[in-house]
Amino acid sequence: MSDSIKIILDGKTCECPIITGVEGYKAVDISKLLAATSHITFDNGFANTGACVSKITFVDGGNGILRYRGYPIQELAQHVTFTETAYLLLEGELPTARQLQTFDRSVTKHLALPGGVLKSLESYPKQGHPMGALAAMICSLAGHYPESLNPDPSADEIREIIFQMLAKTNTLAACSYRHFSGKEFISPRKDLDYESNFLHMMFSTAKKDYHPDETVVSAIRTLLVLHADHEQNCSTSTVRLAGSSKANLFASISAGVCALWGPLHGGANQEVMEMLEVIHADGGDVQKFVNRAKGKGSSDKVRLMGFGHRVYKNYDPRAKIIKRRCMDILKKLGVHDPLLEVALKLEDAALKDPYFIERKLYPNVDFYSGLIYKAIGLPTVMFPVMFALGRMPGWLAHWKEMKLDPSTRIGRPRQVYAGSAERRFVPMNQR
Ligand code: CMC
Repeated sequence: MSDSIKIILDGKTCECPIITGVEGYKAVDISKLLAATSHITFDNGFANTGACVSKITFVDGGNGILRYRGYPIQELAQHVTFTETAYLLLEGELPTARQLQTFDRSVTKHLALPGGVLKSLESYPKQGHPMGALAAMICSLAGHYPESLNPDPSADEIREIIFQMLAKTNTLAACSYRHFSGKEFISPRKDLDYESNFLHMMFSTAKKDYHPDETVVSAIRTLLVLHADHEQNCSTSTVRLAGSSKANLFASISAGVCALWGPLHGGANQEVMEMLEVIHADGGDVQKFVNRAKGKGSSDKVRLMGFGHRVYKNYDPRAKIIKRRCMDILKKLGVHDPLLEVALKLEDAALKDPYFIERKLYPNVDFYSGLIYKAIGLPTVMFPVMFALGRMPGWLAHWKEMKLDPSTRIGRPRQVYAGSAERRFVPMNQR
C-alpha cells in the first residue's frame, strides 16, 4: 500500500504523505499543498479535516465506538469515578489506588474559590444564563492566578493549573446554580469525593447538610464520565485553537465553554427538554413534531433536538447507556415524568421514519440526559453547565497534549474569498 499520494494541479505536483492512525484509519497530509501548487483545500465545517494527531480519544462513528485511551466507554461508565476518568484522560493510564488518592487530594485542595470570584458571580445578572457566568468566571481566574499567564509553562506548572481548573469548575458549577436560584453559596468539604462535593455544594443549606442517595451520586458520576471527552468536537477544537496562540489555560477553557453553549452542541440538552415540554403541552403528538422536523423549506421546520451527530452514523454509544440509566434512575427515585413517555415515543417515531433512516439520524448524548438532571432537581438552564463540568477533563487533556507537543503551530484556517474584486476608492463627497 502506498504511503503517499501525488496531487497534480496546473502541472505542479505535491507529494502528500499518508498518515496511518490506529485501527487503520488514514489521513492525507496536505500541509505542503499550498506551497507546492498554490491551492488550498476547502472543507465546510471541517467535516473531513484532521487538525491534530491525538492519543486521547478514539471515535468510530460508523460502528458506534467510543474509547478513552483505548478503554471502551461502556466499561468506564460502569466501573470508574469521574476523577479516575480525568486521571486516565490526562495521564494516559488508569491510576492505581495510591495515584488516585494523590490526584483526588490535589484536586480537593483547590476547590475553594477566591472571594473576588464569588463577588463577581454575585453581580452577574440573574436574567443571564449560567453558561455566560461560567465562562466569565473561568476567564477571570487568570486575574487571580497571574502565574497562569506564563505562555510557556513547564510540565509541573501545567499539572498545577490543571488541578486548579478541574477543582474550580466543580465549585463554580454549583455556585452558579446557587446564584441563579437565589441561594447562598455553600463551601466545599475536604472529606467528600468530587461528585458528592458537587451535590453538597448544590443542595446543602447553611443549617442542613444534603446527604445524597447513592442512586443520585452514581447518576451524576455516569453522566460526567460519559461527557468527559469526545475528541475534536466544536468546543474542544476551540480550546485547542485558542490555546495554540499561547493564550492561558483559563482563557482557552473559557472559549471552550462559550463554544459548548450553542444549541447545536452542549446547549442541546436544554433544548431537548424544552422541546419535550412543548410536545407534551400540545397533547403529546410526536408524529406532528417529526413531520415538522422533516418539513424541508417549510416555515415551521424544526430540528429534532438531541438527534443527529456529525460523527455517529449509528446509535451514539453514550445515548444507549444514558437511556438505560435514565429509566433505571427515574424508577429508583420514584419519579414519574410524563416527558419520559414523550421522549420514548418521539424516538420510536423518528427511528421508523425514512427521513431519519436515510440520513442516519439517531438519538445523541443529549436526548435522555436532561430527564436525569431534572429528576435530580436541576433546573433546565443548568443542563449545559453539567455538560461543561463533564467535558472539563477532555478540554484539559487536549490543552495539555497541545502544549507538550513540539509540533504545535498556531491554528489559522484559510478561506476562499468571495467578496468584491479590487475597486477604486471613492471619496465621501462622490458616493
Ligand atoms: N433534526 C432534523 N433533521 C436533521 C437533524 C435533526 N436533529 N440533524 C440533521 N438533520 C438533517 C439536516 O437537515 C440535513 O438534511 P438534508 O441533507 O436534507 O439537508 C442532514 O440531516 C444532515 O445534517 P447536517 O446539519 O448537515 O449535519 P451536521 O453534521 O452538520 O450536524 C448536528 C450535526 C448534531 C449539529 C445536527 O444533527 C443537529 O443539529 N442536531 C440537533 C442538535 C443536537 O442534538 N446537538 C447535539 C449533538 S451531540 C452533543 C455534542 O457533542 O455536541
